[in-house]
Amino acid sequence: MIRLSLAEVAQLTGGELTGGADGTAVVTGGVTLDSRTVAAGDLFVAFTGERVDGHDFLGAAAAAGAVGALTTRPGDALPCVVVPDTVAALGRLAAGVHERLAGGQGLITLGITGSSGKTSTKDLLGQVLAAAGPTVSPPGSFNNDIGLPLTVLSADETTRYLVLEMGARGRGHIARLCRVAPPRIGVVLNVGSAHLGEFGSPEGIAQAKGELVEALPADGTAVLNADDPRVLGMATRTRARVMTTGRGPDAEVRAAGVSLDDSARARFTLVVPGEEHPVALQVVGEHQVANALSAAGAALAAGMPAADVAAALSAAGSRSRWRMEVERRPDGVTVVNDAYNANPESMRAALAALTQLPGTRRIAVLGAMAELGPDASVEHERLGRDAAAAGIDLVMAVGTDAVGIADGATAAGGRAGEESVHVPDRAAARELLGTLLRPGDVVLVKASRSYGLELLAADLLRDGAGRDDDRDEGIA
Ligand SMILES: Nc1ncnc2c1ncn2[C@@H]1O[C@H](COP(=O)(O)OP(=O)(O)OP(=O)(O)O)[C@@H](O)[C@H]1O
Ligand SMILES: [Mg+2]
Repeated sequence: MIRLSLAEVAQLTGGELTGGADGTAVVTGGVTLDSRTVAAGDLFVAFTGERVDGHDFLGAAAAAGAVGALTTRPGDALPCVVVPDTVAALGRLAAGVHERLAGGQGLITLGITGSSGKTSTKDLLGQVLAAAGPTVSPPGSFNNDIGLPLTVLSADETTRYLVLEMGARGRGHIARLCRVAPPRIGVVLNVGSAHLGEFGSPEGIAQAKGELVEALPADGTAVLNADDPRVLGMATRTRARVMTTGRGPDAEVRAAGVSLDDSARARFTLVVPGEEHPVALQVVGEHQVANALSAAGAALAAGMPAADVAAALSAAGSRSRWRMEVERRPDGVTVVNDAYNANPESMRAALAALTQLPGTRRIAVLGAMAELGPDASVEHERLGRDAAAAGIDLVMAVGTDAVGIADGATAAGGRAGEESVHVPDRAAARELLGTLLRPGDVVLVKASRSYGLELLAADLLRDGAGRDDDRDEGIA
């Protein structure tokens, strides 16, 4: 973060420095919410969560070297900037810092939104831009009212590119994030059914995601995925120049001659007006072509030469956990951990990648997809049908909420108990897989985050390593 005095923190957040605190003390480190990760010179932000109140840890933060804290009530252990709401204050602090940075040495801020693939694209774009200049783009999914300001606050005067993931659970959310850090380049990936329950309809999702392009300035660029009609439809909602990306022939930035290597990694020719360059992705799954094209469009809009973009895309690896992590056990079973999250589109993308990976049998171990609203049971059944139809050898549905997946697979002809099976929980899945798995099998593990199936993937890898250190997390 840039250096800020506590008086400046108070001024930017509209907070009040508590009695006797030294306003000239300077925050020289970063901003942190967890007293256990506080380093000398940091600003500690005290959140009041359901189970933990950050205000109880002011002493620990002080002992670890924090300069001050942002709080909702004064404390004795540290100089406090007191505000009514620490989340809102964090946003204001980030907005103030962003304004200084954007007004200075020409920081370029890039925002990414979409129903699926935001983190994957952010990770590709972050690695591509890092080849052109100092870039802030932390691993993980920092896309909300807390994560986005924290990302902004990790930039400083040396930062040239700031890559921000923007998520939405309702209307107005992305507009609010764009007020914290107004982007010059905005990327919209797709409009799917993530959080459909909260938005009501795909049109509602498109309305919300399009807030990103509405926030762009006239000299900015909206990078739109032309393969998704709802995304292309956002072209009329922006003052910025529109750059289209996609697989279709009309996109300005497109992929020609897409093929997959024997590890399901895509190769293609990146075609931009007047130039063509070969790309060989390191990340797994054909869905990464769309993400790579979106990242390429954004990097080109930021002024990077196409040849450099293609080279950097080809060197970019996977940086965030539990997204298409392909690992082979010593016994020859391959485990694909894509358990970070799930919705109908990302499930299909992962199943497609599963069918493209080499192996003798393909097994999909799937938990439920959360937050789909009234269509949830239909969507689960449809997923099971599609999985069976795609030639998955065994569809294993895990947990009560996922029973529709097994039903769908059975309805599509997957023999119950052999090609489609329902198990009550993670432990049962692990046990059954322990008896079933053979060398050459490829096992995809995927569900919505709340079902914790990444732990099953980890267990399967441990089982294959011939060790068992039996932990007992109790998530079904
Ligand atoms: N372009 C894409 N189209 C469809 N599915 C995708 C795409 N990119 C990634 N996925 C799938 O979505 C999963 C989540 O990817 P990622 O974490 O990049 O998405 P996200 O949009 O950041 O999700 P979240 O909303 O949870 O932050 C991946 O594991 C993969 O299965
Ligand atoms: Mg994400």
